[in-house]
Amino acid sequence: MSLKIGVRAVGFAAADSPLLVIILPASITLPPSLRDVDLATGGALERTLARGDFRGARDETLHLTGGTTGPARLLLVGTGTSTDRARALRRAASLAARQAQKMGVGRMGVWAAALSAADVEGMVIGLNLGCWEYSDLKTPPPEEERRAPLEEATLFLRDARRGRNAAAQGTAIAEGYDVARRLAMMPGNVCTPELLAETARSIADRHKLELTVLGRTEMEQEGMGSFLSVAAGTPQEPKLIALACRRGKRGAAPLVLVGKGLCFDTGGISIKPAERMEFMKFDMCGAAGVLGAIEAIARLKLKVNVIGLIGATTNMPSGTAVKPGDVVKASNGKSIEIINTDAEGRLVLADVLHYASRYSPAAVVDAATLTGACVVALGSGATGAMGNQEALVREVIDAAGRASEPAWQLPLWDVYREQIKSDVADIRNTGGRSAGAITAGLFLQEFVSYPWVHLDVAGTAYSETDLVVVPKGPTGVPVGTFVEFVRGRSR
Ligand code: BES
Ligand code: MN
Ligand code: ZN
Repeated sequence: MSLKIGVRAVGFAAADSPLLVIILPASITLPPSLRDVDLATGGALERTLARGDFRGARDETLHLTGGTTGPARLLLVGTGTSTDRARALRRAASLAARQAQKMGVGRMGVWAAALSAADVEGMVIGLNLGCWEYSDLKTPPPEEERRAPLEEATLFLRDARRGRNAAAQGTAIAEGYDVARRLAMMPGNVCTPELLAETARSIADRHKLELTVLGRTEMEQEGMGSFLSVAAGTPQEPKLIALACRRGKRGAAPLVLVGKGLCFDTGGISIKPAERMEFMKFDMCGAAGVLGAIEAIARLKLKVNVIGLIGATTNMPSGTAVKPGDVVKASNGKSIEIINTDAEGRLVLADVLHYASRYSPAAVVDAATLTGACVVALGSGATGAMGNQEALVREVIDAAGRASEPAWQLPLWDVYREQIKSDVADIRNTGGRSAGAITAGLFLQEFVSYPWVHLDVAGTAYSETDLVVVPKGPTGVPVGTFVEFVRGRSR
């Protein structure tokens, strides 16, 4: 559930509140709209800045105790000298909310004086990302040790009326992020293909969307031998989930968002090493991103036709599992030699991407935690983006930028295609160690027949370490990218 956001005129910032957050850039003097707050603290704010105790560096924080009147606490957060203002603000807001959550203040105020509507939206998203926690599976601490969860944030703005609308949009997107991060954080025995389908059902019911779910039998009828080869090792029912939100012009070609939904990836017969294998519960972050984005898009009431498509299963070794060397046939008729059963995401996506063609889409964007190679290339700093139409790749990368989820293009050049040629089949599912993110993209390209972009989010959808503003675990990527892409098309 998202934070309750209040919006008030900036003059009220000096009023009593358990915590007032003040976000400032590098080396600033006291802004006039903070005079009242400064007075309420007996001039502490001005002295702190004058002495250089707080210089506003990126991620710098300073916690001050308030005076006898006014805010009980002040938290200064720096944005440094960043040129990407929206991203810096969102980061600072996350950090502030994370600290407020730890303090147990329950509600907070944020001095936001002259923020634009876009900045307010980003700040609301940042606040929600920062205080997010997944504690469903933990026994709550005894009553006396419990801290109040952060439930409410009030933004103090010069133009409060305009801010309200922007805050509501931010909340809608934050709800989408929440859907995605919750699903991603759930362990593999909780977040099953069945649970992803149930979540899609709940989104469909709440927003009156159309839902179609295919199981093993229906996929057999569709000839989805590639997807089904991955599901061959698991007794769980694989699911192809299609969630349609059609608020655009009747009959207008839809945008299709596709997500890899591997609820757990052991590697299959080409099994992964035990060390850090537990992180492979996050192999459904693409799918979580699709569900989160559809939740947000429905809440934003965007006037577009959007289809969310998810390929959900689990990659397990077993007596019935697919083996290296096996050849399977995808629904578009292409035969695939499976060299490595751990390159399963592309096998699932092959059939889901072909399924997308029945919608005659205007554009398709898929997101997948597809390759370790993409993590080697770009780390957690950027999503790998590639596609078959230069303008569309640019459009998606721009959307990712607006969402503060940076993406960087990798080339799908023909020279790399040599690497996925097979001796026995039309194509093989791995292309060796070099250019691994690209050969995976080229594999996917064999199954598309429309303008398409592939986002490899293996390095950006979750983090194995604490990232200062975001705790260890799911980041919510690519929810924002999907939402911005669709919103960009709805204008
Ligand atoms: N889900 C993994 C990719 C992955 C690795 C995501 C690390 C996040 C972090 C994918 O299914 C996989 O196992 N890919 C293999 C492909 C290889 C066998 C060609 C990989 O990257 O090692
Ligand atoms: Mn794998
Ligand atoms: Zn995988």
